[in-house]
Amino acid sequence: MSDVLWFNGRFTTTDERVLGVEDRGFQFGDAVYEVFKFLRKRPIFLLEHFRRLQQGLQKIEIPVPWDESSFQETIRELLDRTSFADGIVYIQVSRGEAQRAHFWPDDMTPTAIAYSRAFKFPDAAKKERGIRVITTPDHRWHYCSVKSNNLLANALAKKQAQRATADEAIVLSDDGFVREGASSSFFAVKNGRLVTYPLQDCILPGVVRDRVLDLALSARIPVDERPLREAELFDLDEAFITSTTQGVMPISEIDGRIIGNSRRGEVTTRVQELFDELEREAASS
Ligand code: PDD
Repeated sequence: MSDVLWFNGRFTTTDERVLGVEDRGFQFGDAVYEVFKFLRKRPIFLLEHFRRLQQGLQKIEIPVPWDESSFQETIRELLDRTSFADGIVYIQVSRGEAQRAHFWPDDMTPTAIAYSRAFKFPDAAKKERGIRVITTPDHRWHYCSVKSNNLLANALAKKQAQRATADEAIVLSDDGFVREGASSSFFAVKNGRLVTYPLQDCILPGVVRDRVLDLALSARIPVDERPLREAELFDLDEAFITSTTQGVMPISEIDGRIIGNSRRGEVTTRVQELFDELEREAASS
């Protein structure tokens, strides 16, 4: 089934082949993307996603094709034209199209797309059961703070996880620290404290990560933003990942070893409840 697509200022559907073969997003991975969730046609944390997109584009010197209000207007119209109530929107802005050469011309016009898609968000059973994860070396580039569509290392890590019948790969730095998931942020729980990697260029500043840190603060759950050693992974009370599509998702096993007592832990359950409530509020505001 085709989805509603916004392409450089006009609406069409994903059936239309809109991209040229010399688009730099296609040839060089020279693009930044975003994924946000909508419920009852209400976008969740829209401006947080827009600001991250804006920052990523500025970092790699691609002009931002919207200001805050034209972006909101584009998304409102996209969701108006969408035939389902819950799903995700994928946005990508590439440097644009030019004859292939590593040097890009100075006068490029970015290619911008946004499309909505139905998505099966985790149900209550999955949110309780959690997921299995593996660990793997981080082969990504140095600026993972930019949500670049250069996702080859992430895709290879995810495929490795899938072959090991796991759902996510947690990437480790060369010096043995736990960074994040291939498509999620990572949290550990030890002695009632949350531990997550500090915001640095080697991780994505996750929108859900940020919300969870705020929720933890107001719920008086102590947080340590510090790199966790790989060795600490096997002595955790609980662990979970966070992302736009998965929300707060418990981890039941890491590399085949059971975390805690294999059931969703108390702290994870609390954070999950708080986050779900916040999302529900965002969908009704
Ligand atoms: N991925 N870290 C990485 C490497 C990610 O790709 C993602 C999200 C996150 C979580 O970010 P957020 O909370 O803003 O969704 C962390 C999206 C969902 C994706 O690639 O589809």
